[in-house]
Amino acid sequence: MKIAIMGAMPEEVAPILEKLGEYSTIEYAGNKYYEATYKGVELVIAYSKIGKVFSTLTATTMIEHFGATKLLFSGVAGAISPELKVGDLIVATKLSQHDLDITAFGHPFGYVPEGAVFVEADEAMIAMSKEVATEMGKTIREGIIATGDQFVANEERKNWIGKEFGADALEMEGGSVAVVCDALSVPFFILRAISDAADMDASFSFDEFLETSAVESAEFVMKMVDRLVAA
Ligand code: ADE
Repeated sequence: MKIAIMGAMPEEVAPILEKLGEYSTIEYAGNKYYEATYKGVELVIAYSKIGKVFSTLTATTMIEHFGATKLLFSGVAGAISPELKVGDLIVATKLSQHDLDITAFGHPFGYVPEGAVFVEADEAMIAMSKEVATEMGKTIREGIIATGDQFVANEERKNWIGKEFGADALEMEGGSVAVVCDALSVPFFILRAISDAADMDASFSFDEFLETSAVESAEFVMKMVDRLVAA
């Protein structure tokens, strides 16, 4: 087993690297990858840079070049569900691409031929996350995450995404990472802590809460890794 831990931004992986302490740095395909042995298990860690293209490249590289056999994503998201507040954790049950649009040809939003509107995350790791939450005394919510190459700071767009995909949160990488892992048969887990409500105040809220929410998510993901290496 080799576990990939991925984020999109430096702030999302910094708490993980801090916890590991010792790691080696490898430069590959225009990015930095960090390798470590944690409790006897090999890890590869990286932040991809923002968006679907960079996250696709990083997830593929972690699997195809570094040999990762499981992938966990840690980061922040904008809330769609009014029940989700800043700092709350959401685990993706399935993910979609809200900006994928060939509706002109009669297809639904998020769909291209031979693809699927939703990609489902690994059920075993979702079940494990419930146990981890209980152990940590934290509440996590399961839900649908919608991904697109847009920072959403608009109530109307957010509500449309919520309605069209039944999504509870939105971000910019999970859906593409899901496509990669699904195609390469690598079980994946996507966790996000809320940084904003994807509304007109989103950019201010994001700047204010990126670091603290990223730490919330990273701490939880490392507890998941603890479980995986102990299994
Ligand atoms: N990640 C965190 N907040 C976001 C937002 N409002 N839009 C897109 N990605 C995000």
